Amino acid sequence: MTVIIEPFRIKVVEPIRRTTREERERILAAAGYNLFKVPADAILIDLLTDSGTGAMSSAQWAGMMRGDESYAGSPSFRRFEAAVRDIYGFRHVIPTHQGRAAERILAATLCRPGHVVPNNTHFDTTRANIEATGATALDLPCAEARDLETPHPFKGDIDLEALERVLDEHRGQIPFVMVTVTNNGGGGQPVSMANLRAASALCRARAIPFYLDACRFAENAWFIHEREEGWADRELIDIARAMFQLADGCTMSAKKDGMANIGGFLCTNDDAVARQEEELLILTEGFPTYGGLAGRDLEAIAVGLYEALDPDYQRYRAASTRYLGEGIARGGVPIVQPPGGHAIYVDARGMLPHLAPADYPGQALALELYLAAGIRSVEIGSVMFGRRDHANGRETYAAQELLRLAIPRRVYTKSQIDYVVEAMLAIHARRQTVRGVRIVEQPAALRHFSAVFDRLPETVPAGAG
Ligand code: F0G
Repeated sequence: MTVIIEPFRIKVVEPIRRTTREERERILAAAGYNLFKVPADAILIDLLTDSGTGAMSSAQWAGMMRGDESYAGSPSFRRFEAAVRDIYGFRHVIPTHQGRAAERILAATLCRPGHVVPNNTHFDTTRANIEATGATALDLPCAEARDLETPHPFKGDIDLEALERVLDEHRGQIPFVMVTVTNNGGGGQPVSMANLRAASALCRARAIPFYLDACRFAENAWFIHEREEGWADRELIDIARAMFQLADGCTMSAKKDGMANIGGFLCTNDDAVARQEEELLILTEGFPTYGGLAGRDLEAIAVGLYEALDPDYQRYRAASTRYLGEGIARGGVPIVQPPGGHAIYVDARGMLPHLAPADYPGQALALELYLAAGIRSVEIGSVMFGRRDHANGRETYAAQELLRLAIPRRVYTKSQIDYVVEAMLAIHARRQTVRGVRIVEQPAALRHFSAVFDRLPETVPAGAG
């Protein structure tokens, strides 16, 4: 048999609600044209994020019932710690309520003003937590990542030459190097084992700790299994272990490949660093055997980490993401190629050439997709990564204007994805009518969450449409 099917059946269903276009027009205006402010029950298909939005398995729910809620010394923590140690192999496992809490504790422990932290591409919370300490977060994506449409197998790789240069230029100022697997900020693209090995060797030769941002480690292991020579016969858990052996620690959001709705952790092999991190943990997250989580959450993660390494699950996961990507690309929608693990990234700039970066094409497309079909997506472009200089009002724009369609784990069926494809293709057919966007109000940092927007009038170019 060649058809790749969902390796599960559905036991619990959750109704989703259709709305009319008029209703959506009203809801969107009331939300200041910001999809983060739209009530989730007014959304039909929610592709805002793959974070914490997955469906848990019956085994995870059974684990939840076993959760021990003791403040200290919970056996749920021991099961969680054993699972993380088994797969990740690090000496110290520090639970946190989600990934960014792990990042904050790591950055507060190791980063100082003047420090530089290289990464293939920092996720926005990682960058913000590093910059909050006065350090600089530096993105060093490989050259292949710049060309959106070339299907290079490992576009998530860090640029090794640039890394070596930075390590030598900033000697003594680099508290750690991080590589994000898969590279969310760079189109959800995987990082090869060869690249991890080389980056790790550069760091170890200089005694600089090498960290992984491991949120989507299992998807990354799957792509190594599928695409990198020498790994096709290996179990995913062995590939994951080989990735982690190259590192000295990691941060993790269990809301991704932990297959849980909440949770995260921080790992290190350094005893002194772990001690400092646990002191900070107690200050803001909780005692080290729960770290801001309930015992039942620890149980769900302990089971979920292994489920993410099931090859049947990963085969289905990659196939369903690819199905969405190929479905819209075949109809002419430009996407970041090849399709990544957790999301499809549409090149909004390429799709909407009549809109300038100042018209925020990614945001314009996100609004159109909600109005047309009740689908929520997220802009990853100048709204998220652009900056306005509040002194002179001048704006710097992001290098790329993308729209991310993130796929929650084990949630949507193939016909629901067909609906998304149909909606995208319908918009593509009348793409000249998509209206640009202005920012009316914005906060100083992380503006995409709370900015207020307005839509520009329709500007159909002469001879078009
Ligand atoms: N690192 C990466 C690569 C991420 O994608 C995220 C979250 C985090 C760290 C932070 O983890 O949310 O548990 O605090 N990404 C989500 C997303 C929010 O939509 O891509 P968190």
